[in-house]
Formats: sequence, C-alpha cells, structure tokens
Amino acid sequence: MTPDSRPYRSVLYIPGSKERALDKARSLATDAIIFDLEDAVSPDAKQSARDTLKAALAEGGYGRRVKIVRINALSTGWGRADAEALKGAELDAVLLPKVDGPEDVQALADLLGPDTPIWAMIETPLGVLNAAAIAAHPRLQGFVAGTNDLAKDLGSRTRPDRLPLQMALQTMLLAARAHGVVAVDGVYNQFKDEAGLRAECDQGRDLGFDGKTLIHPAQLKIANECFAPTEAEIDLARRQIAAFEEVQKSGQGVAVVDGNIVENLHVETATKTLAKAEAIAALGE
Ligand code: COA
Ligand code: MG
Repeated sequence: MTPDSRPYRSVLYIPGSKERALDKARSLATDAIIFDLEDAVSPDAKQSARDTLKAALAEGGYGRRVKIVRINALSTGWGRADAEALKGAELDAVLLPKVDGPEDVQALADLLGPDTPIWAMIETPLGVLNAAAIAAHPRLQGFVAGTNDLAKDLGSRTRPDRLPLQMALQTMLLAARAHGVVAVDGVYNQFKDEAGLRAECDQGRDLGFDGKTLIHPAQLKIANECFAPTEAEIDLARRQIAAFEEVQKSGQGVAVVDGNIVENLHVETATKTLAKAEAIAALGE
C-alpha cells in the first residue's frame, strides 16, 4: 500500500453533535479532522449527532482538511447504523474504535462496501498485540493511538514521560511502518497546558509519529510546529543531498556533513524531509 503523503501534523477531534464546532473547523489550520460519533457524543445524542454530522459533510467547505469520521464500535448498538448512515457521504476515511484484530476491520469493510478507506484506533491490549495483522489489512490506511483507553485497560498511571505506554506506542509504530500506514499519536488531555503539550508532541515526533490527535483548537499551532521539519532540519537535508551528490561524482558512497557520515539511507531521509516541508509550504498557511 502506498503511504499517504498528505501532512497529518494536526488531527482535531470534533464532537459530531456540536454544530458550532463543526462550522468553526472549516477555517481552522488543522491537517485532518476526526468527526466523532463515539465518546465525545452522549448516548442520548447519538442519533441526532449522526444527522447533524451528515448535514455538515453534505454542506462541505472543509477544503484541504482530511475528513475522517469516527463511528461507534460495531459491538455497540450504534456502530452498524453509523456505518450504514455514512454510505455515500463526503468523507476520506472511517475510523473504527476498539479494534482488536483484522476481523474487526473486515467487518467494517463489509458494511461500507468497496471504496471507503478505513482507519483503526489502537487502544486495547489485543489491538496492540495484533497491530501488525491489523495494519496488514488491505483496507487499513491509518492508525490512531487511543492512549486514554489504553491507560484505562492497562491500569497504568499518567506520567509526563508516558513510560507505561511506550511499548504499546512503539509496537503500533512498528506495525504502521511495516505496512505503509499513517500513524497519529494520542491526545494530550490538559488542553490549557501548552508546555506539556509541546513536550508530548516532541516525544511523539521523536518516536516517529506523523502527528497528534487534538481536542481543542488552541492545540493546533503547537502540533503543526512540532511535526513539521524545522529550518535546521531542512537546511541539513539540503546540505546532505548536495554533499552526497558531490562525492558520488568521484565514485564514493559516503560524504561527511557536520562531522557525521552521509550515506544513501540518509539521503532518503533528507529527501523525505524536503518533500514534507514542500507539502506543508504548499498549504500556504
Ligand atoms: N473542534 C472545533 N472547535 C472547537 C473544539 C473542537 N474540538 N473545541 C472547542 N471548539 C471551539 C468552541 O466551539 C468555541 O468556539 P466559539 O468561540 O466560536 O464558540 C471555541 O473553540 C472555544 O472553545 P472553549 O470555550 O475554549 O472550549 P469549550 O469549553 O467549549 O470545550 C472541550 C472544551 C474540551 C469540551 C471541547 O474542546 C471538546 O469538546 N473537545 C473535543 C473532545 C472530543 O472530541 N473528545 C473525544 C476524543 S478524546
Ligand atoms: Mg477510545
């Protein structure tokens, strides 16, 4: 499967029931939106949220933002009806929560028909243990870490370094990278704590995530910054490519830049960094 080359620095959850937020999102600097029918919507509002969301999608106006709809799990009373209601809707992917294995992805694929891409929340112990098989499903195009549910199931405690979640996050990333799937990190709950958000975004970026899921528009700027290549990274990438091209002229396979070796594999990373920077610049924001 070809990896999705669009930027996913910021992926904002919006409750499918909140008309004002659905409208506001049309002008927010977010790379993707998760329109939520699951945990952000109370049980008595499930049906009306479905209708409100369908109307917002039909009205459109979300421009370049990737439109992902999170439905309820198929094991709940609402999941199947959500999937049915979304047939033919203007969206880019359906996100399935509580995915335990590839059979859950298949069950959704059977309901949606042949075309709609599927994303999976990895947020249960089984989901983490089966991450590779889930990522290998031909319809699967993205992973979202569900860190709150995972912490709940693990019985772990919240720590700024997220040590209790590291193995799960890295297992998820290994699976995503093995199968060319987008991987987005979990939310940072304290949405007014900018320093804490920045630290967690930096950690997610260091691990290899494409971006972070967010719960409030005030978090967008920090995620967009942290998951974009820095000026220093862009400058280094350019110099690495130039230095490698130069040594190749004399038949050598290794260059040196800033005291570090540059081989073919570093040039691949540098090329990806520049492509990402160009894709972000092309957004014109
Ligand atoms: N997406 C789009 N707009 C949002 C938003 C979101 N996730 N969260 C808040 N806004 C908007 C509000 O509608 C408000 O707009 P207005 O000024 O035009 O009225 C503005 O941003 C400021 O909102 P604020 O008053 O600071 O927040 P709040 O107290 O109304 O809501 C939350 C706080 C956390 C309840 C709300 O941000 C939210 O529901 N987030 C999403 C939660 C979610 O989806 N959870 C599931 C996944 S973990
Ligand atoms: Mg969850």
